[in-house]
Amino acid sequence: MAEVVILESKAAAGALVADEIVRLIDEVKNPVLGLATGSTPLPVYQALRERLTGHDVSHVRGFALDEYVGLDAAHPESYRSVITREVIEPLGLDPDLIRVPNGDLETIRHAGDDYERDIIEAGGVDIQLLGIGTDGHIGFNEPGSSFASTTRLKTLTEQTREDNARFFDSLDEVPRHCITQGLGTILRARHLVLLAFGESKADAVAAALEGPVSAILPASAVQLHPHVTVVLDEAAASKL
Ligand code: GLP
Repeated sequence: MAEVVILESKAAAGALVADEIVRLIDEVKNPVLGLATGSTPLPVYQALRERLTGHDVSHVRGFALDEYVGLDAAHPESYRSVITREVIEPLGLDPDLIRVPNGDLETIRHAGDDYERDIIEAGGVDIQLLGIGTDGHIGFNEPGSSFASTTRLKTLTEQTREDNARFFDSLDEVPRHCITQGLGTILRARHLVLLAFGESKADAVAAALEGPVSAILPASAVQLHPHVTVVLDEAAASKL
């Protein structure tokens, strides 16, 4: 069973997870962070800004979960841009050591395998941050994703496109495809930290933690992992 921590605010959740990450950075020779995008991990990145001043971060490696396909990497909502803006620049990380899957259509055929190889060569992910979609997706592994899947091209569901339309000027602008680490990739990380805030996530959280382990609810894959911490606010925990 996952360790479930329910806290009163996003800031408290961010602080808890950031403390764990700072410990990793201070104590491990080659720390590898699994980075997530979306709004959920932002309190963690905010708390890290306050905590990492004065710490050596030159050795920190990171791998983002996913990226849109067919969106210019320079677009402000590409996950490359988001990770640069929210993580690399404010935390002073080495941009060469922080990777985001390549969503460029021309190289997409081998981008997944290249990414898998790079994660393995870095020694694997120590702490993997995860948000959860309202349909139970993690990364961009939509319902029906195989538990053995690795980094690959996927089609976004309409639900996810609608959920993410708030980051774009219109629904039409939201890409239809993405490249995402697979559930198999995510399960290989040594410690999974799943965060969720707000009532809109309550059903997905309850299904992920207490429902059957099923590809229909990709986040239920975390039940198969030996070291999972779930950090929630009261609203996201309300259906547990
Ligand atoms: C996005 C991301 C996921 C994220 C999820 C939830 O589509 N690909 O990694 O966990 O949706 O987003 P948010 O945290 O903004 O609710």
